[in-house]
Amino acid sequence: MTMAEPAVNPLRTGMRLNRAADPCAVVVFGATGDLTARKLMPALYNLARERLLPGGFSVVGFARRDWTDEQFRAAMKEGVTKFSREPLQEELWESFARGLHYVSGTFDDAQAYAKLAERLAKQDIAHGAAGNRLFYLATPPDAYAMIAQRLGEAQLATPQAGNWTRLVVEKPFGRDLTSARALDQSIGNVFRERYIYRIDHYLGKETVQNIMVFRFGNGIFEPVWNRRYVDNVQVSVAETVGVEGRGGYYEESGALRDMVQNHLMQVLALVAMEPVASFRGDAVRDEKAKVFHAVKAIEDVGRDTVRAQYSAGAIMGAMVPGYREEQGVAPDSHTETYAAIKLEVENWRWSGVPFYLRVGKRLPKRATEVAITFKTAPLQLFRQMGGDNPTPNLLVLRIQPDEGISLRFGAKVPGTRSDVRPVNMDFRYGSSFGVEPPEAYERLLLDAMLGDSTLFTRWDGVEAAWELLTPVLDGWADGASPIKQYEAGSWGPDAARELIERDGREWHRM
Ligand code: BG6
Repeated sequence: MTMAEPAVNPLRTGMRLNRAADPCAVVVFGATGDLTARKLMPALYNLARERLLPGGFSVVGFARRDWTDEQFRAAMKEGVTKFSREPLQEELWESFARGLHYVSGTFDDAQAYAKLAERLAKQDIAHGAAGNRLFYLATPPDAYAMIAQRLGEAQLATPQAGNWTRLVVEKPFGRDLTSARALDQSIGNVFRERYIYRIDHYLGKETVQNIMVFRFGNGIFEPVWNRRYVDNVQVSVAETVGVEGRGGYYEESGALRDMVQNHLMQVLALVAMEPVASFRGDAVRDEKAKVFHAVKAIEDVGRDTVRAQYSAGAIMGAMVPGYREEQGVAPDSHTETYAAIKLEVENWRWSGVPFYLRVGKRLPKRATEVAITFKTAPLQLFRQMGGDNPTPNLLVLRIQPDEGISLRFGAKVPGTRSDVRPVNMDFRYGSSFGVEPPEAYERLLLDAMLGDSTLFTRWDGVEAAWELLTPVLDGWADGASPIKQYEAGSWGPDAARELIERDGREWHRM
């Protein structure tokens, strides 16, 4: 795998039918916020650079600040200059920026929505957006219901004949089962489910999509992808960063809500789901929903979950403060920055195979991996070097940052004896394809414009994930699995090691 294959543009291929998006206007609520500058605008700019945006494309930023179009464009230029994966090209920026507009208003102000409607109508004429709208909620989640309601009242949620109107909603979708249901109802009063695109940016990552390609685009893995051959599955997300100035948000969230309910559960579903017959319509989301519904309720929160918080320590040689010393965090906070959890998928394929999930901030390195450990050979015929137990085959899907896949197996050590040592077969995206993968938001924004919701989460999946995890949050609130501390720069609390060692297994070393 050393020879570079011809460069391909992953956004032009992929699982989507090759077709162009209709002319449309993207309306970003929360346009002056961090997400817009850091992710959305760079993604749109890069889509423009790749010539993947439709003709007649325009953007309207909506937020409280009293900005003009010019001020909005300048702020967005700064964001793109700083965060785009490709350097900003002046000429391209100029033509892209002509399509950027701004409307100022508070999210509950009905008049501001009337102004927005007027602006959009004008833009339809100026840019030829043809009345198609993509509303993007990049605001704090407590504004979602209000914005949907006001869009409905301003007649902006219902498309004119022949046009479309879609709503993209950022995570978190609710903070537990009850609030998620209430939010679903408020939004559902205005938008039908098929027009709601709930973003989980992990689904936009190339390597996450590749889980499906790896499993269903190859003949040799599926036969062993089950309880007969798999011993356990681990999904791990390690981050070196702390709460990055988002202490206020994070205090209300914690690792379980921030990462497990969405990103990790989505990855688990892709690993565990049954093959689909096509990528059309709801096929993938139907299969994922079946997985969520097959996950067994956690009976003993104290035994099967661990939560912990980082204390001060060193990350790559630099001292960092503990979570409780971060800005916006209560000095006696009980919010978890680390969570580990054991789940079981109770169906014919997976019954008896544990799925271990773990996620943490301020860990020694940044890595997201799925590790599938296989059962060992029924007979131990060869001498294992450096230990009595045979090393099991291990398949690691490296989601990031060193994107690739490796398979560990035993090989004969050269010499006159039959000694065995584990070795790795390794695939790396970088060396095989030689192109920089697009950012998750590029793929997802394009799909939303194309009306392809495969990589967005559907309400039944979101609800099932909350159904499963709300009892964990409730158990924790009642004192089950008391919060532990771990030093920043360590691999988490001892309790997480104990959780898996109790089953005679260990966490895969990342
Ligand atoms: C976000 C979380 O959804 O994902 C952050 O809110 C987290 O807390 C981030 O840092 C991780 O995303 P990525 O793409 O860097 O793995």
